[in-house]
Amino acid sequence: MLEELATLERQGLEELRHVGDSMDPARALESLESWRLRFVGKQGLLTSLLRGLGKLPVGERPVAGQAANQVKGRLEAALSQRQRDLSTLAMEQALVADTVDITLPGREPVLGHQHPLTLALDDMLKAFSTLGFRAVEGPEVEWDYYNFEALNIPADHPARDMWDTFWITDEMLLRTHTSPMQVRTLETTPPPLRVVIPGRCHRYEAVDATHESTFFQLEGLMVDEQCTLADLKGTLTEFVRQLFGNERRTRFRCDYFPFVEPGAEMSMDCFACGGSGCRLCKQTGWIEILGAGMVHPGVLRRVGLDAERYRGFAFGMGIDRVAMLKYNLNDLRHFYQNDVRLLRQFTFPVPAAETWSGRKPA
Ligand code: DAH
Repeated sequence: MLEELATLERQGLEELRHVGDSMDPARALESLESWRLRFVGKQGLLTSLLRGLGKLPVGERPVAGQAANQVKGRLEAALSQRQRDLSTLAMEQALVADTVDITLPGREPVLGHQHPLTLALDDMLKAFSTLGFRAVEGPEVEWDYYNFEALNIPADHPARDMWDTFWITDEMLLRTHTSPMQVRTLETTPPPLRVVIPGRCHRYEAVDATHESTFFQLEGLMVDEQCTLADLKGTLTEFVRQLFGNERRTRFRCDYFPFVEPGAEMSMDCFACGGSGCRLCKQTGWIEILGAGMVHPGVLRRVGLDAERYRGFAFGMGIDRVAMLKYNLNDLRHFYQNDVRLLRQFTFPVPAAETWSGRKPA
């Protein structure tokens, strides 16, 4: 009897050690229960062994009974131990399965960035700020007076044909250039002054690769008692060198704008071919950048300045045109179609310096 008990105990413990191996935790607990029923349950092996107790000689019964109780106790203790082990294991497995893998790279947030026109404008404003020019802005919807009259372009003047636009009323229009801000600035700011004025302009225009009905200009104005054509040339040459390289040369040729006298157009030597002629400069070696001139005495007088005492120079250029040259784009319309495949290429770091009208973007 004692031997049979020992065999049963050995067998029970041995089987118990493997119950639940390589099973999911729920199934393992089920197998534990069948083990319990088989070995220590009411209909189990131990019970049936104990039924033979009655056949033993009376003297041996207490020893056998005690041994059977001890075996039962040890088997049950082993069962609870195995239950605890299995639930610890189950917990560990769950923890491993549920862990957040912190080594996984995160999803990069999509950061916004500035539009190429803003980037180009930033560079332009920065260049002029090194030369003492402050940036101001003006209205896009403008009076005929500022857009034309005050700039020596009366209603019947043929020069109006150069600037066909959208009219709001008989007297109000979408400005065709930033030049009206010359007059507005002079009306409110006593010389000496140096300002640049960036802004959106509009023209009634047939749209093509180099013309849009909406576009941006940068105007410049300097007025002082001592101000000559040499200052104009020096300022604009320095500007071109800051934007397109220190080796750039500039060329000034006579041009006509009613609000300047003399008027000029400025070109720089082609930065792509160095002046020998290529597609960018249409084989001329020169790239036209802007219009400029000495402020017309009529404009100075109209704002109440003494045209004998004060002189000034003014210039105006297309921000789009400068940006096209800087970023090697062949179609102005790219700036306004907002195709992200194009715009995404301009994700270089945002310059921290003066931006549009000196304000930092929010
Ligand atoms: N406003 C002129 C235009 O849009 C450009 C221009 C020419 C501006 C000469 C100036 C200037 O200030 O002096 O065509």
